[in-house]
Amino acid sequence: MNKITMEKIVSLCKRRGFVYPGSEIYGGLANSWDFGPLGVELKNNIKNLWWKKFVLERDDVVGIDAALIMNTKVWEASGHLKEFSDPLVECRKCHKRFREEDVKSKCLDCGGELTDSRKFNLMFKTFLGPTEDENSVVYLRPETAQAMFVNFKNVANTERKTLPFGIAQIGKAFRNEITPGNFIFRTREFEQMEIEYFFEPPANGKEWQNYFNHWQNQMMDWITEVGIDVKNIKLVDIPDGERAHYSKKTIDFEYEFPFGQKELYGLVYRADFDLKNHFKDAPYKEQGSKKGFWPHVIEPTWGVERTVLAVLLDAYCEENERAVLKLNPKLAPYKAAVFPLLSNKPKLSELARNVYKNIKTETGWPIDWDDRGNIGKRYFSQDEIGTPYCITVDFDSLENDDVTVRDRDTMEQERIKISKLGECLRDRLS
Ligand code: GAP
Repeated sequence: MNKITMEKIVSLCKRRGFVYPGSEIYGGLANSWDFGPLGVELKNNIKNLWWKKFVLERDDVVGIDAALIMNTKVWEASGHLKEFSDPLVECRKCHKRFREEDVKSKCLDCGGELTDSRKFNLMFKTFLGPTEDENSVVYLRPETAQAMFVNFKNVANTERKTLPFGIAQIGKAFRNEITPGNFIFRTREFEQMEIEYFFEPPANGKEWQNYFNHWQNQMMDWITEVGIDVKNIKLVDIPDGERAHYSKKTIDFEYEFPFGQKELYGLVYRADFDLKNHFKDAPYKEQGSKKGFWPHVIEPTWGVERTVLAVLLDAYCEENERAVLKLNPKLAPYKAAVFPLLSNKPKLSELARNVYKNIKTETGWPIDWDDRGNIGKRYFSQDEIGTPYCITVDFDSLENDDVTVRDRDTMEQERIKISKLGECLRDRLS
């Protein structure tokens, strides 16, 4: 099999409407990307699958959707104003800036001498309202997590939740990264899917490990569910001194990207760091008990764009003369495509249009229509975007009320009655 390169994935994404360069007609904006019609379907399918698995199917997790801009006191209390920074070095000659960990002793561009490193805070700063002074400074959130901490009491009270329970959120986060890059891998705005899972402070100092193991397994299950081969995942225990300021234990789920093994997801034991910082008084009391306490928390966290990238890389293959995205059908942007065998035969086109409209209405799924070029080209075109089934209406269809259904992965074809199409697709894809 040919090697999968980033060039192939980036080109496929642009050509087929998964991801476009941001602000392209104005010359672009460095490292900003727009999700196109197929990209938004893939992304929504990932988010919906995640929400279903971790919120809807569990009794112990509920969701929120909080404001992106929070009171600046949140970032003071959480330690982000002081600690959320990367060490930055600058070239004395060309003044290009790098993350210290990305360079050795010389500038990567011109070989010039580098300055000593200094801390660079990654939060985006802006002003709330018309006055641009110190009192109106606010920050775009660098993680969704803090909204789950500051709403802990609200959620526990309104949902009558008892420990252990989790709060989940999907949403945008912003980081003024020093060196964004590698397509959608590291960008300055991205989406996170995060859960803060709260439990009683461990009595013997060890129970957190059970919750940690549970979430580690859940994250591995998720990786398999989205179609990423676990062979491409390495678990890396992050040592003391390299973890985020709030972490007592971190395991990174690293993926073998074409540009190296890098973090895909993270799993962190934040203990009571955040709730202690936000709540002066104990935020939780057992029913009937007088004494409150500060629950501890395990945080599994997923990046949406990194999921999109890993899913595309793992699904992409080249077989003989076709390129095919062997996506989990649940993630595929189109679930099926409908074609008339020939486009210049009005009866065929009319029947094919009806088949297309009916399965679209019956399933409520995105279904594609194509009547350009020859049938082989249409199949390959759908393979490249991961459409699981292609449905062809031919001359026999006019006589027998049936169609050819072709499977993306096996390329096998079978005849199915038109009246059974919706049911048949639902059986295979639900
Ligand atoms: N609340 C914990 C937290 O934010 P993190 O490891 O800094 O932890 C979580 O970020 C996840 O967000 C990462 O595992 C990654 O998937 C994604 N992520 C982080 N920075 C990113 C960036 N600049 N661009 C795209 N995704 C990013």
